[in-house]
Amino acid sequence: MSVSKKIVSNQEGVHENLEMLVRKHLDSDFRKPIADHTRRAFAAVCRRIDDAPNRPLILDACCGVGDSSRELARQYPDHWIIGIDKSEHRLLKERPGGLGDNLILMRADLNDFYRLAVEASWTLARHYILYPNPWPKSVHLKRRWHGAPVFPFMLRLGGELELRSNWRTYLDEFALALGVAGYQAELEAFEATHPLTPFERKYRDSGQPLFRLTAML
Ligand SMILES: C[S@@+](CC[C@H](N)C(=O)[O-])C[C@H]1O[C@@H](n2cnc3c(N)ncnc32)[C@H](O)[C@@H]1O
Repeated sequence: MSVSKKIVSNQEGVHENLEMLVRKHLDSDFRKPIADHTRRAFAAVCRRIDDAPNRPLILDACCGVGDSSRELARQYPDHWIIGIDKSEHRLLKERPGGLGDNLILMRADLNDFYRLAVEASWTLARHYILYPNPWPKSVHLKRRWHGAPVFPFMLRLGGELELRSNWRTYLDEFALALGVAGYQAELEAFEATHPLTPFERKYRDSGQPLFRLTAML
């Protein structure tokens, strides 16, 4: 059995500065220059998609080794599944299942990739963020996706969003941030009978509760 420690945070519940931070990001531009390597990665994804431009898009953000992307590609054979992770090491790991012809795995920094996707007017059918790095220290709020300047761009991509975590506070915060932006979210605990990702399996096997947030953007 793999053992994984429970999240420890010096934060009591939702971060007190979150609402202010989200409002600030919604009201301002995110001007950090986009890295060339992510521009090239985005262009490569667009070239693949152009082979079948009418297929709806599913983004598996922070896909790690891509197990969830492979499973989604099986579940949605008439969609493009785009798995993005910044870790080449994870993406290159040998995994069972091969790559379906509707699956694109790409190394890119999502802080840039999301903005390029908005610039290209992408609309997603579904958007998965499974077990993002929690950054549980209070001081790291801005590293969580809902506390990051790219958050408004994530919302502009639309679609059915599903976010999973073993840290309930992450989802409470994400739901609050969505609320500030005018969206409603559902939040529930769930049992991972068939884990979709290695992190999900690891947390499940160490008996940790798992949580899921869904929202229609
Ligand atoms: C905790 S792992 C979860 C991986 C996978 N979803 C799973 O559940 O097994 C978080 C992943 O997010 C990726 N990540 C973190 N920040 C990222 C960013 N800015 N752009 C792309 N990937 C990122 C990391 O490389 C890592 O693979």
